[in-house]
Amino acid sequence: MKKLILVTLALVYLAHADSFKEWLPKGKSVGAFEYMPNTPHSPAAFSSVDAKKLTKSQRKGQQIYSKWCQPCHGVGMPGTNALAVAYQGLGIPAMLEERTDLTPDLVSTFVRYGKHSMPFFRKTEISDEELKFLGDYLGRNAK
Ligand code: HEC
Repeated sequence: MKKLILVTLALVYLAHADSFKEWLPKGKSVGAFEYMPNTPHSPAAFSSVDAKKLTKSQRKGQQIYSKWCQPCHGVGMPGTNALAVAYQGLGIPAMLEERTDLTPDLVSTFVRYGKHSMPFFRKTEISDEELKFLGDYLGRNAK
């Protein structure tokens, strides 16, 4: 009986192995470029921006954003909530992805220095090259 249960479990696992792989392996860190924005099993599924409309470099930025920023700057997340309060009534969107006033320089300053409860990010976490992609992504609407 035990064997039967084990074999059944193994078969169920094998049948779904591919879909399990889409989620983050437990206890393992995943490189920024392994993230898949806008797929149902990815944390980046919350990105409101259609990756198809982005340049190659902006798309890389979206992946980095999905890994490092989305957990706080997604819908209903602490960064979004804090900015909603800070900019209440000023017409500035709380979602960073919707902002039209973020330049790559501004993004880089906030990322390297942090702001209030937002942590700063080290070059071992987000490299200078990755930061450029991130700036390209968040700065794409800059007027
Ligand atoms: C741990 C949560 C957290 C993470 C992760 C995080 N942020 Fe933030 N961020 C915040 C909070 C909270 C604020 C608002 C701080 C305040 O003004 O009180 C903020 C503010 C900002 C602002 C300033 C906007 C403004 O107009 O004041 C920018 C830009 C920003 N974040 C970019 C980023 C980027 C890019 C990343 C990813 C590399 C990131 N954040 C990751 C929590 C986070």
